Amino acid sequence: MDKQAQDLLKKQAAQKAAAMVEDGMVLGVGTGSTVAFFIDALGKRKEAGLKLKALVTTSNRSKKQLEGWGFTVSDLSAIDQADLTVDGADRVDDQLDGIKGGGGALTLEKNVAINSKKNVWIVDESKMVHHLSGFPLPVEVLPISCEQNFRRFAQEGLKPQWRMAGEKRYVTHYGNYIIDLAADPIPAPHGLADYLDHTVGVVEHGLFLDICDEVLVARGDGTIEQRH
Ligand code: 5RP
Repeated sequence: MDKQAQDLLKKQAAQKAAAMVEDGMVLGVGTGSTVAFFIDALGKRKEAGLKLKALVTTSNRSKKQLEGWGFTVSDLSAIDQADLTVDGADRVDDQLDGIKGGGGALTLEKNVAINSKKNVWIVDESKMVHHLSGFPLPVEVLPISCEQNFRRFAQEGLKPQWRMAGEKRYVTHYGNYIIDLAADPIPAPHGLADYLDHTVGVVEHGLFLDICDEVLVARGDGTIEQRH
């Protein structure tokens, strides 16, 4: 699928999600190119009179775009829970488990997601897989022990690669590095998530398991499938 066709699908899923937002909601807004379409659709709904109770987001990129539409963006700690969070994903499997973090915002994305009553992901059909595969798994690590983490991941056969920004290591919003694990497919997502959750120095990882409630999949035939 070429980029133009893929963008069209992303936009269709985004518009469908924007129609799910209701007046008075506390809304969570994720990060990425699909979410960028969602923010534009949400902005248009604001112009048409939509009034949110509060809004939180998962990156400075999204924050800037939301503020450009005149939204006030709160810190996550300033709200109790979001009613609904809309985010993109890099891969989604048959159980609606996903890989996220391609944009590097996984830590705040997971924090917003687990503090949301409902999580909706918006994707084009190329992101859908039967088993999580086809996209490196991002792991955010503390710089102080990142070399030990990297070596251990290599020993475990997880095929670690530093995420780079040009010549330098990519630095997250929180000043950490990202190691992308190229082990593919991920054989046992819950087992790997458990291992990463218990690895000292790992801040967060991009396995989002049992988090997503609904996926809006935009398909090339013009339909949008709603999967629960
Ligand atoms: C950012 C993310 C994004 O949601 C994910 O990478 C999908 O992005 P895009 O909509 O650009 O394909 O997890 O950290």
